[in-house]
Amino acid sequence: MRRCAVGLCGSCVVACAVLQLRQLQLLPEDPSPMDPAVRMDVSAVGIYVQAANPALWNQMYQCIDSVVQAHGGPVDVFVSTLNESVAELYRSNLTAASSRLRRWEVQVLENRGADLGQFFQQVLREPMDQYEAVLKIHTKKLELWRNYILENLCASPAVVKRALEALKDPKVHMAGPKEFIFLGGKATFSQAMCDIIQCRTTKVQLFPKQTVQAMERAWPLLGQAVPLPPARRFAIVAGSCFWLRGHSTALAGNFTANLPRLLGNMTLAYRPRSAHQIEHAVERLLPTLVYSSGGLIARLSA
Ligand SMILES: *[C@@H]1O[C@H](CO)[C@@H](O)[C@H](O)[C@H]1NC(C)=O
Ligand SMILES: *[C@@H]1O[C@H](CO)[C@@H](O)[C@H](O)[C@H]1NC(C)=O
Ligand SMILES: *[C@@H]1O[C@H](CO)[C@@H](O)[C@H](O)[C@H]1NC(C)=O
Ligand SMILES: *[C@@H]1O[C@H](CO)[C@@H](O)[C@H](O)[C@H]1NC(C)=O
Repeated sequence: MRRCAVGLCGSCVVACAVLQLRQLQLLPEDPSPMDPAVRMDVSAVGIYVQAANPALWNQMYQCIDSVVQAHGGPVDVFVSTLNESVAELYRSNLTAASSRLRRWEVQVLENRGADLGQFFQQVLREPMDQYEAVLKIHTKKLELWRNYILENLCASPAVVKRALEALKDPKVHMAGPKEFIFLGGKATFSQAMCDIIQCRTTKVQLFPKQTVQAMERAWPLLGQAVPLPPARRFAIVAGSCFWLRGHSTALAGNFTANLPRLLGNMTLAYRPRSAHQIEHAVERLLPTLVYSSGGLIARLSA
């Protein structure tokens, strides 16, 4: 986007600013009605759960159960956690549900790079391109965030049906909880989001300068031929729980091949609130990769 030149007259600056704003708003966000002729089939669904905290298993299970209820086709489930005793708990639980799943696996993975680090380790073992639809969820600590995210992503068969329907549209490569999707580098928290998470101010930038600097450092690790896209093409699904097209063209090519390098640069035993580390950048890389290559991120609500 062009910048409004300093030398412009007053009303020209205003007109220029309005134009910029409109350009921002005109970016595709919600898909236009789907052409029935191009509907894609959603057959296999892969659920990737990062469940470090067993106290929250109930909600993870509810999502798995909703997917099985909503989807007629095969469902595979991959659960990661940080130690063997928790893994055993999940295994004994999923054994009882196994007849409804095509395949399931509980793995103890390295505590690297928070939930996304665990997710990337899972993806390296179980490639996403086996699935038309991938669901990524984790036992996010913040309760208000977690409840909203799961309710609007997977906690009921109705919302799962909506997600699978959205992914039948070839334009849609990703779907997230309605109020937690932010597009463009200038995005701040919205009032709707603040009402949900009870934050004190909406003046929280989703792409602060230091995080953008971390994105600049992390982007080449993805092995992309193109440089980090312009700020207006930045995207984030806050909370990092989402649906994703398993063979999204945005992830084709070098994404998986470069995951080991990306993972190697992520922090061991990551602690939340350690601002501006690579994890904060990585949270924004996947949605930005999808959005900047022309894929739409659908907004789901229960
Ligand atoms: C598995 O966990 C879910 C959620 O906590 C629970 O509802 C279900 O009864 C458990 N199943 C078994 C067999 O333990
Ligand atoms: C395994 O992880 C759980 C949950 O974080 C924790 O409560 C438990 O103490 C851990 N057990 C071992 C053996 O490290
Ligand atoms: C993948 O990496 C190779 C080598 O670094 C590069 O030539 C190619 O353009 C990259 N592909 C994409 C889609 O970025
Ligand atoms: C981290 O990324 C750099 C490239 O910037 C790479 O050379 C290095 O091998 C990576 N580290 C690990 C441990 O993978």
